[in-house]
Amino acid sequence: MRKIITFGTFDVLHIGHIRILKRAREHGDHLIVGLSSDELNFNKKGRNPIYSFQSREELLSSMRFVDEVFKEESLEQKREYILKYNADVLVMGDDWAGKFDEFKDVCEVIYLPRTPSISTTEIIEIIKETS
Ligand code: CTP
Repeated sequence: MRKIITFGTFDVLHIGHIRILKRAREHGDHLIVGLSSDELNFNKKGRNPIYSFQSREELLSSMRFVDEVFKEESLEQKREYILKYNADVLVMGDDWAGKFDEFKDVCEVIYLPRTPSISTTEIIEIIKETS
């Protein structure tokens, strides 16, 4: 079995999220998502996620192309997570291109093109502006 791992917050789920997960799954047989904890998202983006970890986890777990979700507690532990979950491939959006090449000694690293013109931050901004 070929296992794929990917990471992200997946807050305010949108089409870019669905597409990257679907395409990631096409690279193997089992997709594992390292889902940022609320604390990690706060440290990374300076705001709490709109949806709680529990809601984000429930949304992702209900997708047919997501097989497993775990809590990513620290950005520094990617190598440990890859090894712990026995991942053969790490898939990330190309906003991260080159940033995870250091893991090429333990798995294949693939960057997929992002879906243009949509992001969680942008959706939040649009809602703020129009409310
Ligand atoms: N992603 C994508 N296309 C988009 C937005 C995100 O392929 N338009 C991918 C990212 O490259 C990443 C995954 O979805 O691999 C999770 O990204 P995340 O940071 O949770 O979503 P964003 O919408 O980019 O969130 P933000 O605007 O808060 O940075």
